[in-house]
Amino acid sequence: MTHKILMLPGDGIGPEIMAAATAVLEALKSDFGLQVEWEEAPIGGAGYDASGEPLPQATLDLARAADAVMLGAVGGPQYDTLPWEKRPERGLLAIRSELSLFANLRPAILYPQLASASALKPEIVGGLDIMILRELTGGAYFGQPRGIDTRADGVRQGYNTIIYSEPEIERIARSGFEIAMKRDRRLCSVDKANVLEVSQLWRDVVIEVAKEFPQVSLSHMYVDNAAMQLVRQPKQFDVIVTENMFGDILSDAAAMLTGSIGMLPSASMDASGKGLYEPIHGSAPDIAGKNIANPLATILSVAMMLRYSLNEAAQADRIEAAVGRVLDQGLRTADIWTAGCDKVSTSGMGEAVVAALAD
Ligand code: NAD
Ligand code: IPM
Ligand code: MN
Repeated sequence: MTHKILMLPGDGIGPEIMAAATAVLEALKSDFGLQVEWEEAPIGGAGYDASGEPLPQATLDLARAADAVMLGAVGGPQYDTLPWEKRPERGLLAIRSELSLFANLRPAILYPQLASASALKPEIVGGLDIMILRELTGGAYFGQPRGIDTRADGVRQGYNTIIYSEPEIERIARSGFEIAMKRDRRLCSVDKANVLEVSQLWRDVVIEVAKEFPQVSLSHMYVDNAAMQLVRQPKQFDVIVTENMFGDILSDAAAMLTGSIGMLPSASMDASGKGLYEPIHGSAPDIAGKNIANPLATILSVAMMLRYSLNEAAQADRIEAAVGRVLDQGLRTADIWTAGCDKVSTSGMGEAVVAALAD
């Protein structure tokens, strides 16, 4: 069966990193027997430019019809003054919500070759392999009421609502336990239950779900402490499960442990295993168009897609091994470059990974 993929390059560095990822898919197709076809559609600022909407209906229809979706990144300063509903980020949030992609897997793995590029000492990050599971379709990102308005006394106010229903917590908690069962069987649920009622419910429900998974050791941590512990002793974690906004913030912090935000892939899954795959970083407007962005997070997202949605684990292994070989060769984009290594461009890194697939 031929896998049908939808590619959404988006904005800023999105098209550059997506071109590198597409080159890898192209090579798997032509040289390694992967049966795959893809088409491209606009989202984010590119969607707005093409059709006036950050998530054009045609793009959403193609995404529903595809077996999996790859996304580059969305956003950029030229779009920041658009009306709220037209902003690129709304397109990304809408596709996550429309496709019910509630489980966002953000693995933070340190490639040993990048130990010296990490912001932390090698002895603290060496061998790091943690999974952050971020709830992706609830919380403050989608809660109502939300808005900016003017009070009776004339003072303007802005507000959002962090809201989680019991079933929403249950399903992400269950995903967390299931993932932990396939790893070191340790799950840390991160919340702010000392202050927020929504977090108290979160904790209560996670404890309930834990009864189904007696082999998993469950712990709870407040999010402020978790941020500190991630930098102090990151290897104490196996799987972290947390709500939407906490997961957004903690995963950017975890990215730096691996050398660069340009290294972290992600999978956003629905209940049936369909997924959208994207690097965790944004459109990096400061380096867009320069062919210097790191495409490895996107290339590693292709590997996650092959493994999680397309049942092509051997092809995923092939990509991950190729990335390891390229790092062994000393090739680095600017964000992970350290003395003694060879600096390569975005496209150069993509070509190097393609060449290394065969080894
Ligand atoms: P960002 O992740 O785009 O960039 C933060 C910093 O990391 C920048 O200095 C950037 O150059 C660097 N960086 C990011 N990706 C890189 C890569 N692959 N290689 C090398 N360096 C990289 O975050 P930001 O600056 O806060 O946001 C910029 C825009 O991106 C905003 O419009 C924001 O809304 C959007 N954004 C989109 C997504 C997404 O599409 N999933 C995620 C985060 C931010
Ligand atoms: C991410 C991004 C998005 C988020 C934004 C761009 C909507 O930061 O994918 O991590 O906050 O989820
Ligand atoms: Mn983010």
